[in-house]
Amino acid sequence: MAILKISDELQAELKTLLKSSQSPEETIDILSKSTKFSNLLTSLKKILKEDKFVQFRGGELSNYNFFFTALVNCFGEYYGVIEHTGIKIDCDYTGCSRNQLVLHNDDAIDIERQPQFGFIQVIKEDPIFKVHNGIVLIRELIRELKFKDPDLLNSLLTVPVPMCSYGINYDGENKKRLVVKEPILSKDSDGYKVRFDFERINFYYKEKNEKQPYEESKMIFDFLQYANGIKKALFLEVGDILIQNNKETLHDRDECSIELGTNGKLNSREILVSFAR
Ligand SMILES: [Fe+2]
Repeated sequence: MAILKISDELQAELKTLLKSSQSPEETIDILSKSTKFSNLLTSLKKILKEDKFVQFRGGELSNYNFFFTALVNCFGEYYGVIEHTGIKIDCDYTGCSRNQLVLHNDDAIDIERQPQFGFIQVIKEDPIFKVHNGIVLIRELIRELKFKDPDLLNSLLTVPVPMCSYGINYDGENKKRLVVKEPILSKDSDGYKVRFDFERINFYYKEKNEKQPYEESKMIFDFLQYANGIKKALFLEVGDILIQNNKETLHDRDECSIELGTNGKLNSREILVSFAR
């Protein structure tokens, strides 16, 4: 399992460096001059390149004086606003859902500018459950299908599947209607890629008031069965940051619970999400 933990001493040293930082820019500047941070970054990038995901265990450092924002910036073009999501009762955003999420990769509908890396940091654990994040490596799925179900593999590489949404991000300003029709799997010069968002596939048919063809829903059902069969379950502690190659993995998470306080306030698992491309 690709977990990289930093020692308490290293965590304390990096926190001391960032003590006076007042902004993300300042944190980026301080870290860029630190050999210790540079060693950490090199290790994270190497594991990510080889394993396609890495779980960084940074403890309190992860959420200290803009460290998370600075870290994301080190992996490419900063993608946008960092999203802070809790679990909610009345919210139609998938990230707030109490239910288990279906395996997907983020912004799959964004053909031109889909993020290369996704970052999830847990800042509060679930009040009841030990909630796991699931990861599927596409190269492992390909290997599985090559021998167990080559016909399915061929369909996943060749049959275009529609997706529809209004805008790419839930809280993005641009709400233009987007429709794409692409195969779920593809291969380019550096390997196999995936593009899959179950909600947006279903939304395409819901919006058109059409029934999804049986062959397509069966292909997706089989794809998810194989993918779930090789899924790795990770438990993210508070302060853990999961970094994943968003084009070569799928991810999900278990169902969550909600605790209701006397003041009507909800207590639930909370995460920060960000992307780099
Ligand atoms: Fe996601």
